Amino acid sequence: MGAILAGLVWWGYQYDFGFPEGITEQSAITAHFWNGTWVAAFAVGILTWGLMLYASIAYRRRHGDPMPRQLRYNIPIEVMYTVTPIAMVLAIVFFTVRDEAELTRVSNDQAETVDVTGFRWSWSFYYADHDVYEIGQPSLVDEDLPVLYLPVNEKVQFNLGSPDVIHSFWVPAFLFKMDVVPGRINTFEVTPNELGTFAGKCAELCGVDHSRMLFNVKVVERAEFDAHMDELRALGQTGDPDAGRISDAAQGVE
Ligand code: CUA
Repeated sequence: MGAILAGLVWWGYQYDFGFPEGITEQSAITAHFWNGTWVAAFAVGILTWGLMLYASIAYRRRHGDPMPRQLRYNIPIEVMYTVTPIAMVLAIVFFTVRDEAELTRVSNDQAETVDVTGFRWSWSFYYADHDVYEIGQPSLVDEDLPVLYLPVNEKVQFNLGSPDVIHSFWVPAFLFKMDVVPGRINTFEVTPNELGTFAGKCAELCGVDHSRMLFNVKVVERAEFDAHMDELRALGQTGDPDAGRISDAAQGVE
């Protein structure tokens, strides 16, 4: 029985317990935390189920047994029931704090900086090192969505700002999201290490068109990234479209 359950856990581990595949160097940390939490939870579960099964068979009522005492104190057991969950919660807190500190560490040694503005109800991406931008509109149609280009295997720093309400910048394949809060700039860094196109969305209910606040992320080779920067420049999309709005919001000016 225990072997079957252990086998199921091992099998789930091979598939990251249903977690999507991460596409950044940093996503490995999140995936490892997710898997570790499941393995620890199953270890506790298998032990608990085993004890329950054992107790209900070994100590079942037999013919002629008198009714046992219904009230009884057992100090060691009660201490164990208190200390064990506290130890488990502390372990979860320890690994959460450790991984979160690593995932949100900003070292400012990025290859590209993108200022992201989440507004009701789309996104703009300002490529600060190239002084060009892309700005989107709310839509459910894939071809109409704004596209965020990123060069593969290079660290990108995101600076998130909002001129209106709280949004949340979420690329599920990053295995990471961060709130976009008016009045402040939230920063994080990732290094995408897989080519491809990935979905992005707003993960904070922000109004009537929240569900249409979508974008796509394209992780491309450096040459294609540079070519896209030139494309945006040729379209005249230069300068930071949102610098004023965000800094006004940061100063509390409407
Ligand atoms: Cu922005 Cu939901």
